[in-house]
Amino acid sequence: MSSIPILVIGATGKIGSRVAARLTQAGYPVRPASRRSTPAFDWDDRTTWAATLAGAETAFVSYVPDLAEDGAPQAIQAFTDLAVAAGLKRLVLLSGRGETNALRSEDILMAAPIETTIVRASWFFQNFSEGTLLPSVLSGTIAMPAGDRREPFIDADDVADVAVAALTDPRHANQRYEITGPRLLTFAEAAAVIAATAGIELQYLPITLEQFHAALLPELGQRYADLLTRLCQEVFDGRNEALADGVQRALGRPPRDFADYVTATAASGVWHRAA
Ligand SMILES: NC(=O)c1ccc[n+]([C@@H]2O[C@H](COP(=O)([O-])OP(=O)(O)OC[C@H]3O[C@@H](n4cnc5c(N)ncnc54)[C@H](OP(=O)(O)O)[C@@H]3O)[C@@H](O)[C@H]2O)c1
Repeated sequence: MSSIPILVIGATGKIGSRVAARLTQAGYPVRPASRRSTPAFDWDDRTTWAATLAGAETAFVSYVPDLAEDGAPQAIQAFTDLAVAAGLKRLVLLSGRGETNALRSEDILMAAPIETTIVRASWFFQNFSEGTLLPSVLSGTIAMPAGDRREPFIDADDVADVAVAALTDPRHANQRYEITGPRLLTFAEAAAVIAATAGIELQYLPITLEQFHAALLPELGQRYADLLTRLCQEVFDGRNEALADGVQRALGRPPRDFADYVTATAASGVWHRAA
């Protein structure tokens, strides 16, 4: 095991925190990176990148706000070039399913002359408990422009397990793991499972893209409202209504089920906080 720290970008996020915890638990030194780390790493400020990369050999790369954003492929190209020049030997990229700019970013990373692995995930279970949908769950209504589309939600713990395997085992080099949970669920079905298990009132309200954008704008501002609306438009057209076998391929075991996540999360009390 190398004494050189593994760089974890987005180390305080849903996936990065799990990746960092797993690596630390297994005895690997970790260099966490985000806007709040020292030195700070900011995707929006390229002058911060070199100091974070210096001396590293392996990095987990989580691009924020999302690889679906228009400037993401350019940022990933610049970051990859800098990482290769800095002597990194292995990059593991967290990607999103069905997004055009994410696919472009994956291709850029895979073309680099070093070991690369893509972890291309479906929507995380934890969006309902740690992410942008928690306030909706607490309010009793999940309003999304997803119609009756079915999504194969995945456990963030599975995403982190696959990422850690790729960071620590060269057998995962040059792989693209498309990872989903074990079943397709509509947002209505997901809301019903949470409501029944947690004992709360929760409904899914299908809304238009225009309504979604208008609701996000005052809360999140133009950049995020535009991004999330375009993202939903792209990924809820039916393209992602299929399961993928990446967890089984990478880890030799099936992905975790939504019901198990909901049972554990309901017991934590997170869905009973005041809205
Ligand atoms: N949510 C999903 O269902 C889903 C599905 C597939 C793929 N993804 C991908 O997952 C990634 C997000 O991962 P996540 O959900 O684990 O993140 P997250 O929970 O949203 O946390 C964001 C992380 O990035 C850091 N961060 C925020 N802005 C930053 C910036 N400008 N520069 C550097 N770091 C910044 C944050 O820390 P600081 O505040 O300290 O900077 C934090 O560590 C995105 O690339 C997204 O495309 C998400």
